[in-house]
Amino acid sequence: MTKLKNDTLIRALLRQPTPYTPVWVMRQAGRYLPEYNQTRARAGNFLGLCKNPDYATEVTMQPLARYALDAAIVFSDILTIPDAMGLGLYFADGEGPKFERPLREEWEIRNLRVPDPSVHLRYVIDAVSQIRRALADEVPLIGFSGSPFTLACYMIEGGASADFRLVKTMLYQQPALLHHILDINSRAVIDYLNAQIEAGAQAVMIFDTWGGALADAAYREFSLAYLQRIIAGLKREHDGAIIPSIVFTKGGGLWLEDIAAIGCDGVGLDWTVNIGAARRRVGDRVALQGNLDPAVLFAEPAIIRGQVQQVLDAYGHGSGHIFNLGHGISQFTPPEHVATLVDAVHELSRAHH
Ligand code: CP3
Repeated sequence: MTKLKNDTLIRALLRQPTPYTPVWVMRQAGRYLPEYNQTRARAGNFLGLCKNPDYATEVTMQPLARYALDAAIVFSDILTIPDAMGLGLYFADGEGPKFERPLREEWEIRNLRVPDPSVHLRYVIDAVSQIRRALADEVPLIGFSGSPFTLACYMIEGGASADFRLVKTMLYQQPALLHHILDINSRAVIDYLNAQIEAGAQAVMIFDTWGGALADAAYREFSLAYLQRIIAGLKREHDGAIIPSIVFTKGGGLWLEDIAAIGCDGVGLDWTVNIGAARRRVGDRVALQGNLDPAVLFAEPAIIRGQVQQVLDAYGHGSGHIFNLGHGISQFTPPEHVATLVDAVHELSRAHH
């Protein structure tokens, strides 16, 4: 069993006492960091970074060299799974992710197979082991995946979408076909996350970025049910340690009680929710992660500290809070403002423990 030098993230997820509130930042290794852009230029492009474990390790470590973060997150992308299924992921400059072969015909959907992570996603599993060695047990490493529904959105739409017309048409018109895709995706996510855990991921997070675009009943049937199945399929322990899980449905504020009931250890919150009100609804069952508006980081340091204080005060006293942004950090964030954020959380949260 390995002993972490800083285990505040794991302890907060398990709602055990900590001396301060741990903090990490969604997309903490990214384009707001000049050193990231340099490595990315050497790799050629974003996928070149993801698919080379040396580069993935290098960029994962970059934010930790600058800031006193309480966790690392594997540098990768949620769309590695559909890429491993053969859909052909690429990033057109300024247009976000796209697939060469989105799911358009029923036969393409019937032909989908669960990828073997040790073969088709070997580069991610190798990156996890390599990052664990680089971290030397300083802070825990978070592994991650997209949710079955969020992956299906990209697989069916072929890229980002403003209205999810194609996936929602399938949802209402051919629900069994969408359930088939979600079934394959769920099995793929379980295998993928368990492979990351076996390679050394010490916590896992599932990004359900588009679950919040669904109607109430559709969210339960097409996203939450599969999230629950994944949690039930994850390895609970590895190397003598519990592996906590975090579920983040962006726009999921209305469903907090339901998300908290699926067996995850932590629930991610976007910035539309008051974290104190969220805690009163679910706080005795799960830890809460979030939820500073990423746009706060455009303001000057004194304002950032004030906004950090507000989130800490809203959560209140005691363990069970993992400080984070309510969504990924913007590429236009001044890097020094992230130092202000991390230091403010560490300093101001001590009074809450
Ligand atoms: O948090 C981290 O530091 C880990 C890395 C991480 C990335 N993507 C790196 C990345 C994680 C956890 C993700 C998850 C991800 N990817 C999600 C779910 C979380 C969310 O943001 O809602 C989604 C929807 C994706 C798909 C995706 N990948 C999008 C929408 C984009 C942005 C495209 C753009 O041009 O803005 C990406 C690319 C991406 N993934 C970048 C990074 C650092 C930027 C790529 C670059 O360097 O050009």
